[in-house]
This record gives sequence, structure tokens and C-alpha cells, in this order.
Amino acid sequence: MNNNPIGFFDSGVGGLSVYARFREILPHENTIYYGDLKNLPYGSKTKEQLVGYARNILDFFKTKNVKAVVIACNTSSALAYEIVKNEYDFEIYPIIQSCAKMISTMNDAQRIGVFATEGTVKSGAYKAEILKYNPEILIKEFACPNWVSIVETTNKDEDYANDDIKKHMLEMLEFRPNKIILGCTHYPYLIKYLSQYAPKEIFLDPAEIFVKYISENINKSTQDNVGSEEFYVSANPIDFVRNSKLFYDIKELPNVI
Ligand code: DGL
Repeated sequence: MNNNPIGFFDSGVGGLSVYARFREILPHENTIYYGDLKNLPYGSKTKEQLVGYARNILDFFKTKNVKAVVIACNTSSALAYEIVKNEYDFEIYPIIQSCAKMISTMNDAQRIGVFATEGTVKSGAYKAEILKYNPEILIKEFACPNWVSIVETTNKDEDYANDDIKKHMLEMLEFRPNKIILGCTHYPYLIKYLSQYAPKEIFLDPAEIFVKYISENINKSTQDNVGSEEFYVSANPIDFVRNSKLFYDIKELPNVI
């Protein structure tokens, strides 16, 4: 039992999709969320850059005396986690590695397609992690470089979004997947477009499995009251609050550090 806060980070608001689910199932935990908007998007950054960003954020969380950190970003989990995982004395939960086992045991997952950022796809992390548990599964990963900006754009150009999504969905469907992982925290918000091409049930938002995994493994708080929340960004606090509405209702401007 430990009442110290849990840190969450992502390049921006996307990780709030994980955070929102976490608050629902573990409301008594004290939490700190960090959005690295100065370095957004992570999807096109190099491994060296992503390791540098992760270290800066983990160093910050260390000053906050966290008991654990949740890497709520697929790209950072894919490229930075393995390098930084033993550098801190708190637990670190990366989204991809934490979900892989549960994904590998799903009944309807013989052919898995993954939509993710360029960085995540190039790393091959989803494939490598899932195959560790079940080498029989066929997995194919597809990069969707425009989808984060489609989600973040307040006035969506519906034609542009539809065309881009159609292109990637047709490519994906050629692979004949029976499960499609939405391997970037922003993508579940495109379900309205995606489900024009395949039934909703085929899509998997790893956030759901991830939060379950964390709740089964984390050293829980003993508090009865609702846990505290603090929000930090590395830049653009107004953008953060505006775009957060897609994922979680943040009312006050975050601290900029
Ligand atoms: N949140 C990141 C992920 O899950 C993607 C957003 C970005 O490219 O910055 O991979």
C-alpha cells in the first residue's frame, strides 16, 4: 500500500485516453499527467530523441516522488522503454509490453493487424512482444502518419480524413485481420470513420487491457477520498486544454515546465 502519486506521460493529449479509463477504475490514486507538447508528434522522432524525452520526463517524475510511471504512449513504449526501464527505482508500465500477453491469448486473434505511428511500426514492437507469447499469430503493422493530426485538428476536414482512413483501411483489409489493434493513443477517436469499413468489434483499443493490467499489478493507495490530479505540459497549455476535451475534461490550464 502506497499513497505516492502515479505519473502518466504522452506526447500530448492522446495518453488521456488511458488516463481517463485509469481514473474510472482506480479513482483513489493520486496522479500526475505530463504532456510533452513541445516535442509532439513523437511518431516521427528518432529513438535517440525519444529516449531523451523519456529521461527528462522520468527525471521530473522522480522529483515528484512517484511510486510508478505509466508510459501512455505507444511510440515511447516501443522505442524508449527498453533503454530506460532499469534507470529508475519506481515501476514503469509501458503500454505495448503490458498488453502483449493479454492480446496473445484472445480467442479471435489469429491474424492481427496493427495501426500505429511510423516510429512504432518501424520498431516492430507490437509484433515482437505478441510473438513472445504466441509465435503462431500472424501480425502485420501499418503506419498511419496523418491520423494524429486528423484527430488533433479541431475543424476536421471530413473528406481528407475519410480519404486517408479509407486508403489505410483498404490496405489493412487485404491482410484479412480478425483483430485490428489501434496502436496509437489517438486512433480510438477515429472509430466513427474506421467502422464504415469493418465492424466495430474488430477494433481493439489497448487502453482497456492496459488499465486492467496496471490495476492488477500496482501497489494501491489506501485512501478513501478521490485521488488528486496535477497536469503539466512542456509547451502550449491552451492547446492542451482545448484538445483534452476529446479525451478527458480538464478545466484548468496545466503547469508549464
Ligand atoms: N501518443 C502517441 C502514441 O501512442 C502518438 C502521438 C504522437 O505521434 O505524438 O504512439
